[in-house]
Amino acid sequence: MQVLFAATWWFGRIAVEAAVRQWRESQVDDSALRLLEAVVEGAAAVERDPSVLSVGYGGLPNRDGEVELDAALMEGAQLRAGAVASLRGFLPAIYLARAVMEQTPHLMLVGEGAARFALQQGYEPQQLLTPESLRRWQEWRQQRSAPKEVSAERAVSHDTVGVLGWHAGHLVVACTTSGLAWKMPGRVGDSPIVGAGLYADNEAGAAVCTGIGEYIWRFALASRVVEAMRAGYTAQQACQRSVEFMLRRLPEVAERQCAVIAIRADGDFGLAATQPERFEAYIARDSEIERITIHTPGS
Ligand code: GLY
Repeated sequence: MQVLFAATWWFGRIAVEAAVRQWRESQVDDSALRLLEAVVEGAAAVERDPSVLSVGYGGLPNRDGEVELDAALMEGAQLRAGAVASLRGFLPAIYLARAVMEQTPHLMLVGEGAARFALQQGYEPQQLLTPESLRRWQEWRQQRSAPKEVSAERAVSHDTVGVLGWHAGHLVVACTTSGLAWKMPGRVGDSPIVGAGLYADNEAGAAVCTGIGEYIWRFALASRVVEAMRAGYTAQQACQRSVEFMLRRLPEVAERQCAVIAIRADGDFGLAATQPERFEAYIARDSEIERITIHTPGS
């Protein structure tokens, strides 16, 4: 196997297809850069797709009706990372996360600072609401009597697109989301947080999470999974153990979706979720794409 990409949810297919295309068509000689660009393109393809209601363009907005994006990128050779959070009006957020990593001395820019950085980078402000996301927000406003957290979680079937790339032991991970629907303005989840939503270290592996950020972050889930791989567990064991720990430590997590996918430094793949029957991911080994679900007793 030469290259491996994996991504979360049904739209993971969009991500891995775009990543494979970018990898194949790339003229870049530096394979680390080529992998980075493929992973970024995978994430950006989902951001641009208006049918994905939880990422990028067409993502469901905050309670004020404004789309706020969180995105991050990390590469496992030098532990370089970049992120943006609460970014309004610019796309793709993952391009800006990459620019933060490559062109600033910082790791994360948020809100107004991130928007100013986007303008400096030559991005045009754009409306990220689509007729469909606007319609859903208006509908939500009319039904506001529903319990807030529950209505937010069920508004979309989920959530963040996390993209992992592996080539010859090198790992890159990207994560991008519009976050929880109807969130408070300024709310940031796990997705742009290194160690919470994503982590990559070529000495161990990489992991990326999706689900309710308020739980994933408290467990530093991505970092937890990578450390388990460093300790010698397979990617599957590392994901499984970490999710089981969450469920044991805070049983209420079982009522929420928190999921993780991981690739170990040797290319071994794994995934786990607090609600495994509702989770899926896509994996591309070279250009062969497969949908992965989690087998549970009775499923
Ligand atoms: N995992 C995405 C979020 O909680 O914003």
